[in-house]
Amino acid sequence: MSMHGKVVVVTGSNVGIGLETAVGVAALGATTVLACRNQAKAEAAAREVTQRTWNDDVHVVPLDLADLASVHRAAEEIAARWDRLDVLVNNAGGTWSHRALTAQGLEYTFGVNYLGHFSLTNLLLDRLRAAAPSRIVNVTSVGHHFARHGMRFDDLQSENGYDGMEAYCRSKLANVLFTRQLAARLEGTGVTVNAAHPGPVRSGFGMDGDLTGFMAFGLKLVRPFEISPRRGAKTSLYLATSPDVGTKTGMYWVRSRPGHMSRNARDDEAAARLWDESERLLASAGFALALD
Ligand SMILES: NC(=O)c1ccc[n+]([C@@H]2O[C@H](COP(=O)([O-])OP(=O)(O)OC[C@H]3O[C@@H](n4cnc5c(N)ncnc54)[C@H](OP(=O)(O)O)[C@@H]3O)[C@@H](O)[C@H]2O)c1
Repeated sequence: MSMHGKVVVVTGSNVGIGLETAVGVAALGATTVLACRNQAKAEAAAREVTQRTWNDDVHVVPLDLADLASVHRAAEEIAARWDRLDVLVNNAGGTWSHRALTAQGLEYTFGVNYLGHFSLTNLLLDRLRAAAPSRIVNVTSVGHHFARHGMRFDDLQSENGYDGMEAYCRSKLANVLFTRQLAARLEGTGVTVNAAHPGPVRSGFGMDGDLTGFMAFGLKLVRPFEISPRRGAKTSLYLATSPDVGTKTGMYWVRSRPGHMSRNARDDEAAARLWDESERLLASAGFALALD
């Protein structure tokens, strides 16, 4: 499907699956916006996207998901530069062995993989509504199945013990719960929201020294069996562009097909509670849910 005249924002698109997603939408003619935390890497990636696609309608917006002030600035810049937003791909993410904090003192894995995107998406909802039919794609992981104790609302910030893999899986569970709750809230607006598992991808994921011990060893072991970032971007691209899924919403996808969500991900009460807790966290950090 041609994406000419459409504006697509991809977070964490300077490398890996995000970069290949940006290349995919740019190749279809979209105005392609790389929302990334490192300006130099993002500019280089934008040039790569143009070289590979012959599309020079490629732009960079600074976005650090570990700082809600940066998330607000990014949303304001996007809203100021483009009067429509057709697709938002919430792709950025990572896994960290040691507990760290965002600029607002929230646990980092939760903050970057989930809450920053929760905030960004809400701030951009008016733009998405204005462009309806429009789409949101949340990149999650099959790892959400391993968040066996669900969201653990009694310790959402992992203050009583931090396990990097558990925190990662929980943040990815949050992505699916967010997808389902947002889909319910957006019913009838023409804005759809779906979650994608990219598959096991040979990207920068877990390779930048942020992982130690068993997690780092395990990721190195499986590396030869992983797929390329280009293949890993296929499900995100399918959900972002295919006419086949224009009205599908609130679903979880693997290899461009409906996938099996964990029991915890299908918990409506948890989805509603996570929304409320997220709103509360943003409010207590002094950040509104919508742009003025
Ligand atoms: N690779 C896999 O096997 C796999 C499997 C399941 C799900 N996923 C998911 O796929 C998505 C993309 O991962 P990938 O494999 O492409 O990993 P990657 O190559 O490590 O890329 C991650 C991207 O996220 C960005 N990022 C990290 N922290 C950020 C922050 N605070 N603010 C803004 N951007 C930030 C990174 O920016 P920098 O370059 O500046 O660090 C990078 O652009 C993630 O959500 C991941 O959870 C991956």
